[in-house]
Amino acid sequence: MIDTLTSEKAIKLEDKHGAHNYHPLPVVLARGEGVYVWDVEGKKYYDFLSSYSAVNQGHCHPKIVNALKSQAETLTLTSRAFYNDVLGPYEKYITEYFKFDKVLPMNTGAEAVETAIKICRKWAYEKKGIAENEAKIIVCDGNFHGRTTTIISFSNDPDARKNFGPYTPGFIKIPYNDLDALAKALKDDNIAGFLVEPIQGEAGVFVPDDGYIKKAASLCKEANVLFMADEIQTGIARTGGLLRVCGDCSCESKCEQQATYTRPDMLILGKAISGGVFPVSAVLADDSIMEVIRPGQHGSTFGGNPLGAKVAMAALDVIYDENLIQNARKLGNIFRERMGAFIKTTDLVDKVRGKGLLNAILINDSPDSSTAWDLCVALKENGLLAKPTHGNIIRFAPPLVMTEEQLHECCDIIEKTINDFQKK
Ligand SMILES: Cc1ncc(COP(=O)(O)O)c(C=O)c1O
Repeated sequence: MIDTLTSEKAIKLEDKHGAHNYHPLPVVLARGEGVYVWDVEGKKYYDFLSSYSAVNQGHCHPKIVNALKSQAETLTLTSRAFYNDVLGPYEKYITEYFKFDKVLPMNTGAEAVETAIKICRKWAYEKKGIAENEAKIIVCDGNFHGRTTTIISFSNDPDARKNFGPYTPGFIKIPYNDLDALAKALKDDNIAGFLVEPIQGEAGVFVPDDGYIKKAASLCKEANVLFMADEIQTGIARTGGLLRVCGDCSCESKCEQQATYTRPDMLILGKAISGGVFPVSAVLADDSIMEVIRPGQHGSTFGGNPLGAKVAMAALDVIYDENLIQNARKLGNIFRERMGAFIKTTDLVDKVRGKGLLNAILINDSPDSSTAWDLCVALKENGLLAKPTHGNIIRFAPPLVMTEEQLHECCDIIEKTINDFQKK
């Protein structure tokens, strides 16, 4: 029946039968391929969100979909009660890919963050010698790490928190991009870890100062505190390096020797490690940290399933097969250059910022106004899908398989839409 639905009917169905935990743009998508998606009426759009940076490799990438199909016909789930013949090869693949001793496989981003928090606390008690139940983790104002009860306990977002208490204790919040605040907070001997996004995506693509991540990691090292990088949104070529902890290095390899590289103690990945085809997330760390987890202490029925493992290997292959790191960097520079020139001609946009193909424009209006939303609706009418984040900011994150010509066409759409919007 779904294929006979109109957009209007589909929206009504979701409205009536689904919990209202999202506020989607009024567009009902039925198909995707590469940088494009089509609605149920057959209208074609540029996807300029990539499912919050999960579809970096483009929609329905054939190599990833074929990996899914062939594994789906062979073996989908064994649980971790038994070994399976894909998990071991996947664990070897992903640990060599990111250069860590071990991986703990999970499914969603929030689960991976929870996993990192649990490992960090256990490490603090068993390795660092913090007294039981005293461990604290430093996090940043404006963070977004997911939606579980523990994670929202250290969010600043009133919508994410209100009436979901009581909250999990043991987190200390400091301002983002503030090394003095970090150094001060690290003086507490009960600090176990520092959990940080190398760019705050949900907060509005907030890019910290150059050197912040590197210096933050070295402060943590001095204090014997685990530096945990949440690269769920920034990772996998999105920001013009394999990871954002690679910094602004032009190195195209998985090399970790480059000057700007910061090696986290724990690397948290999700979203695009499966190309948006299947939920796969991971925490990577070396043995000295990962060995604190023993049988029965953490897990998930689906974590490490053969389907996700095969999909993730294909999705990670595509990053290098198709030079997506270089493309994200090149196109990101073009995008910010064009938008930078354009915003000088309009009063509606204050600023463009970002790295690689994770960018945002800041709308010159109050955060409570509907301008960013209205602009996204107008962009949709003109064939480009994007979504406001935090009021007056619009995030732009197209699939990394976009061509330069397509990017220019998207910039034309954005400029025209803003110009027309201003005339209204
Ligand atoms: C930085 C970051 N961490 C964690 C998450 C949570 O991932 P998931 O929605 O898969 O639970 C997100 C999702 O947007 C994210 O951007």
